[in-house]
Amino acid sequence: MKSRLKIVMIASECEPYAKSGGLADVVGSLPVALQELGHEVIVILPKYAEIDSIRFSLQPFLSPLGVWMGNTEEWCSVHTTSKHGVAVYFIESDKYFARWGYYHDADMNDYLDNARRFGFFTRAALQLCRDIGFRPDIVHVHDWQTALGAAYLKIWHWNDPLLGRARSVLTIHNIAHQGVYDRADFEYLGLQWGNFTTEKFEDHGKINMLKGGIYYADMVNTVSPSYANETRTPVGGNGLAPYLNAKGERYLGILNGADYHVWNPETDPLIPAHFSRTDLSGKAVCKRELQKRFLLDVQPDVPVIGVVSRLAAQKGLDLLAASIEDAVKNMLVQFVVLGSGEKGLAHYFGTLPARYPGRIGSYIGYNVELSHLIEAGADFFLMPSLFEPCGLNQMYSLRYGTLPIVRATGGLDDTVQQYDEKKGTGTGFKFIQPTASALYFTVGWAVSTYYDRKDHLAQMIQQAMSQDYSWDHSARQYEHLYFRSIAD
Ligand code: ADP
Ligand code: GLC
Repeated sequence: MKSRLKIVMIASECEPYAKSGGLADVVGSLPVALQELGHEVIVILPKYAEIDSIRFSLQPFLSPLGVWMGNTEEWCSVHTTSKHGVAVYFIESDKYFARWGYYHDADMNDYLDNARRFGFFTRAALQLCRDIGFRPDIVHVHDWQTALGAAYLKIWHWNDPLLGRARSVLTIHNIAHQGVYDRADFEYLGLQWGNFTTEKFEDHGKINMLKGGIYYADMVNTVSPSYANETRTPVGGNGLAPYLNAKGERYLGILNGADYHVWNPETDPLIPAHFSRTDLSGKAVCKRELQKRFLLDVQPDVPVIGVVSRLAAQKGLDLLAASIEDAVKNMLVQFVVLGSGEKGLAHYFGTLPARYPGRIGSYIGYNVELSHLIEAGADFFLMPSLFEPCGLNQMYSLRYGTLPIVRATGGLDDTVQQYDEKKGTGTGFKFIQPTASALYFTVGWAVSTYYDRKDHLAQMIQQAMSQDYSWDHSARQYEHLYFRSIAD
């Protein structure tokens, strides 16, 4: 019989408590899926100022919790709640988390004490396991924010009766963010100068938290097979390819799942009408509502292309900015853009509707309800990412019969099947070159399919809606990874 694992998931985001991107979706869903497979999972998060204790029924759990950082003992307190039976703990520290946002200030400047903030948080999480007598088989950490967990296990806890036998798994959600900070914090982080080497933490005289985590983790994975391959190359690896390659088979890609409890057009409480593969009539209602909400001309037969995205260079929205005006001038098509992030892009997309009334709608900000309405009401969903470790929205789009138009990179390439014009098969439209003209022509290809090959479009919608990217499959792959790390 398969044994039941004890897993602690330490992360900087988790839906619904704290979310800036897909990391939160993953940390929100994977523990529940693992628990459904019979494992015991706890999740530990920072208690950011904006987490609403009342809304999420947070209970005081432990205070004070002492955490050694370098030569200083820091104090914090712990709150708890539960999500579908998974215990979730929050580390509260006024010094580090009673401030705006998660990683940067309102002007998008990184907090200068981020290494200390997340180093402290990660150590506090391990300390919490000890204080509550939780003896994990697996310590699962995510991205640079908690990568040090893998190092702490090996440096400090190898002989610890509670943590000593735990194996570490580091998931990289985005290699563009590595947590590179001033070496002055190294001692505070408790990492010992002997480890400040190129092989481990040192990166051009600074500390690279992700790199150190890669070195120490028993297993490292990223969030799609294609992105795993891309990051093994000098361009895709952002300087870390040699270290990932050094892991050999201990580095691999596991595709994220989509949470179909949340993203299901048959039950979604955030959309005006429900629909399914066999009855798409509700989708037309959603489209009408979407056109109204974004002040577009209410035309059921004009295709709507939706975008929901962080406004960041990674997402390729510069390419869209360089082609969207030509698209609305030359094609009978509408666009809706929902996003927040970089100021230049926010200003550009925020002011477009006034220049193209009825044709382009936008909302600059973070809005979950609108994100669901766009997935449900649009005909196509555009993700022109320059790189995309996995991407979740294209998977949601498939389920909502909203055909993705994507650049063939990372997880987008792995989850969207190219339209075959001869057979009428496929689940979306892909382009390879990261250029505005490639995007423009692919949008044109989708739009012409909408008008001229309606039977193909209908067939593609059926194919898209029957794809299965549920967490169940991904969770089994993580389970396998955990067992492998224990067997080695
Ligand atoms: P990333 O993590 O790189 O931002 P993903 O596609 O993995 O990309 O995940 C993005 C998640 O964030 C999705 O759940 C998406 O719906 C959500 N999201 C992004 N921007 C917004 C926004 N402005 N409003 C609401 N949800 C958003
Ligand atoms: C990152 C990536 C995104 C991925 C998400 C969750 O934010 O940019 O592609 O889907 O993490 O793994």
